[in-house]
Parts: sequence; C-alpha cells; structure tokens
Amino acid sequence: MTRRAVVRGIGHYLPERVVANAEFEKTLDTTDAWIRSRSGIERRHFAAPGENTSDLATRAALAALANAGMEGAEIDAVILATSTADLTFPSAATMVQEAIGNTSGFAFDVQAVCAGFVYALANANALITSGQADRVLVIGAETFSRIMDWTDRGTCVLFGDGAGALVLEGVEGTGTPADSGILATDLNSDGRFRDLLYVDGGVSTGSAGVLRMQGKEVFRHAVEKLATTAETALARAGLTHDDVDWVVPHQANIRIIEATAKKLALPMERVVVTVQDHGNTSAASIPLALSVGVQRGQIKPGDLIVTEAIGGGLAWGAVVLRW
Ligand code: UT7
Repeated sequence: MTRRAVVRGIGHYLPERVVANAEFEKTLDTTDAWIRSRSGIERRHFAAPGENTSDLATRAALAALANAGMEGAEIDAVILATSTADLTFPSAATMVQEAIGNTSGFAFDVQAVCAGFVYALANANALITSGQADRVLVIGAETFSRIMDWTDRGTCVLFGDGAGALVLEGVEGTGTPADSGILATDLNSDGRFRDLLYVDGGVSTGSAGVLRMQGKEVFRHAVEKLATTAETALARAGLTHDDVDWVVPHQANIRIIEATAKKLALPMERVVVTVQDHGNTSAASIPLALSVGVQRGQIKPGDLIVTEAIGGGLAWGAVVLRW
C-alpha cells in the first residue's frame, strides 16, 4: 500500500474587473494585435482597490472546500503559493486560515513565483505521504497588478490577478500509476538566472518594487526546461507522454505552451489553455486552469494530468497526478 494525496475539491476566483488589451492602447505604445500575437493574451482580471491576495485566496479556498463538501475547520494545513502576499509577514496563508475558520491546523506561504503552485503541490504531497497531514488546502493566489511598471509595455500587458485552490486528502493507493492523486513531482531552481525575472523592491529597499523581466531570455529557458521537467516527472511515475490525457501548463505565453506541447509530442487538443482570458497570473495560473478545465468538462475523474511551470529564480517543476 502507498499513501497518495488525492484531489477532493477544486475552486477558483477571479476579480470582477476585466481589462481588454485595447485598454493599454490608450496609455502605451502597444496594440491589441501585438499582445495577442506575441503572447496569446486577450484580457485579464485586475483586483479592486483594497482587494488583496488573501481575499482572492479565501474566495478560491471556500469554493474548493464547498466542492469537497468540507469545512475549513477540517483542514490540517493551508499552503498558499504567492509572490504577492498582502504584507511582508505574517503569511497570507494565515490570513486565509482565519477567514475559513480554521484554528487547529497550520498555514504557510510558498514563494517560488510562477512555479509556486507546483512547489506547493509537492510540499502538500510530502506532508500527506509522510503522515504529517491528512487534508491539505493548496492555493495559488496573486495580485501582480500591484507590482507592475505601467510604463513598461514589455511586462505590464502580460500579467493578471486571480486565485485557484485544491483540497487534497491522504488515501491508501496500490502504489501503481493507476492510483488517483499525485503520482510524481520534479522541482528545480537555478539562482544564477535570478536577474532574468525579479521584483526590484522588498525589505532591502523599503518599497514593494515592480517586476523586471528579460522576456526573450526567460522564453528561451522556458521552452528548454518545461518539457524536460514534465518528462522527468512522468518517468518517475512510470509513465510516458502517451499516457497523458491533459497537459495543464503555467499560462504565461501561448507560444511557450505550444512549443512545450510539441516537445512532449502532445497535440494542442490535450492542453488546457486559459492564457487568453487570464493573462499570466503567476502561481495562480495552474489551479485556475485546472478549475476552468474541470468546469469546461475537459478534465474528468481518472484523467492523467501533467502540470508544469517556470518563473523567477529561475524556479521550475512539474507534477503528475491522476484526477
Ligand atoms: O511567468 C513567468 C515566465 N515568464 C514568461 O514566460 C515570459 C516569457 N517571455 C515572453 O513571453 C515573451 O518574450 C514576451 C511576450 C515578453 C515578448 O515577446 P518577444 O517575441 O520575445 O518580443 P521581444 O521582447 O523580443 O520584443 C520584440 C519587439 C521589441 O521591439 P524591437 O526592439 O524589436 O524594436 C519590443 O520593444 O516588440 C517590442 N515590444 C512591444 N511592442 C508592442 C515589447 N512589448 C511590446 C508591446 N507592444 N506590449
């Protein structure tokens, strides 16, 4: 018998305000056509003033708990992947913990930028399979609109706000790839590349700062590293690309998503794509895509999913799970 972390519930939340590409034409030297053709993005959501990452995360968490038929009090651990926590500390996860009415568990943030949700899933899996927790709420939530340089057309048109959440629970599996739940994970980072994508503020500067990115270079690393990490996680699970029902990639750029699918020898019909509607929501993009994929009727019980992401650090990784 092998302990597995299986998905019991899923949910997401997107802020009300939708901003179409054309909005940026008013203030920047850019066009809807450029943004669509270079990134695949058509619109994104921005949080309202006073609406913070923990608020988005709480909405997604409550939706996932309702979907699982569970109360917040029944959760052992809350893991929130974010790079845009409301405050330097305490963690946004503890804010969510309070908001969902949980006092018996523990809560912490995971900061691995766009790879954050993959890192959070791997941490949740480790807590569950080691017996330290039975029920873990894993959330990805971001308000990247708060760390944009609105004069930099190379970055501010690409990002959006949102949140998605999963409830995982420990069950006994058979130890084969036919099991439901997380089957394998692969995590990587290489701090030599940290200057390619970073925020130029924080505790050391006295202000939150804004995002800086060398887009072309990050693009090059993404195409090279995403297929490799997905293949590594699949091999660890004893599976190949032929077994995959859905790739659920980090939603940064349609051209990266297409190039990675091609490297994995998987047709775009087996890729969940939400980048056109959400933009790049960093750690929120994968749980948002999973939740929308379920809502659309794409992802069904028993489906084999590989999810992969890369972002600032550079940090990247993949998770293989059966729905
Ligand atoms: O989630 C974390 C990981 N992040 C990513 O995965 C992002 C990876 N990078 C990308 O998605 C792409 O590199 C971008 C979408 C950021 C840029 O696409 P690109 O095809 O690499 O364009 P580029 O940066 O090479 O820029 C091409 C041209 C430049 O003009 P010149 O120098 O050729 O005259 C840019 O100044 O496009 C210009 N440009 C724009 N033009 C109109 C850059 N941004 C814009 C814009 N509108 N918004």
